[in-house]
Amino acid sequence: MEEKNREPVEKGKSLGETLEGQLALKGMKNRVFWREEVDSTNTWAKDYASRRGGKSLDRALFMAECQSAGRGRFQRVWDSRAGENLYMSLVLWEPEIPIQSASMLTLVMGLSAAKAATRITRKKAGIKWPNDVVLSGKKICGILTEMNIKENKPQYIIIGAGVNVNQREFSEEIRDKAGSLALEAGNDFDRAQVAAEILSCFEKAYKDFLKTQDLSVLKAEYEEFLLNKDQPARIIEKGVESRGIARGITDQGELLVEDQEGKIRKIFSGEVSVRGLYSYV
Ligand code: BTN
Repeated sequence: MEEKNREPVEKGKSLGETLEGQLALKGMKNRVFWREEVDSTNTWAKDYASRRGGKSLDRALFMAECQSAGRGRFQRVWDSRAGENLYMSLVLWEPEIPIQSASMLTLVMGLSAAKAATRITRKKAGIKWPNDVVLSGKKICGILTEMNIKENKPQYIIIGAGVNVNQREFSEEIRDKAGSLALEAGNDFDRAQVAAEILSCFEKAYKDFLKTQDLSVLKAEYEEFLLNKDQPARIIEKGVESRGIARGITDQGELLVEDQEGKIRKIFSGEVSVRGLYSYV
């Protein structure tokens, strides 16, 4: 099947084509695969990588105008309507990192999206650990990272990001916690520009990450965006709730939570949901 479906979307060019041009202007060499509709850009990227993977796929970006089965964390559905948002999956082919560092890339992308959202809207975005990007208390971006392992090393990692850019109406179930760049900043944004800014922030942060293969270089910057820092948190692990004060993250990206006795516990992001006491953050 033809992988580049360049049907016109905005001003005669598809979002994928416009983005490719913007990335070239920024000196970035991402290959952009574009389709009007897919089930999920993560699934598409995984499928492509498993059939036709290779070094040339490193930093390839799979994007779609809409997703019929967008996936979120904890097997949730990611609402993926057409024409307003970004649905994109970045492939890292044979990254030089151990398997246990792969989940940290979710935080690297979260940091990159928070920085990009701040630059673009001129409003300080925040991160709800581990990787929800939040603007004025509303989630504007979610990230889903998946990995394929070969010979005990990551063969490829796919970092999928869903960014609510110009969406202004949300379904009742998510209305109280979901927002968009446009809704929080008061004006629409060029989606290709938003994607290019996120990728450019990621490229820089990823270089820093590779120096140590963990978050030690990025931790201080991540914590500047961390909305949970020094805030009370409810931690829900396999249906069991505990409470504490979030104190920051470790070099591995775990959340440090202080309990009532002053003991610090490390929370691994895998199957845990963290909430504020009275609200989503
Ligand atoms: C979350 O639950 O917060 C993560 C949401 C991740 C959604 C993005 S949209 C692009 C990529 N394709 C998917 O199916 N999911 C991710």
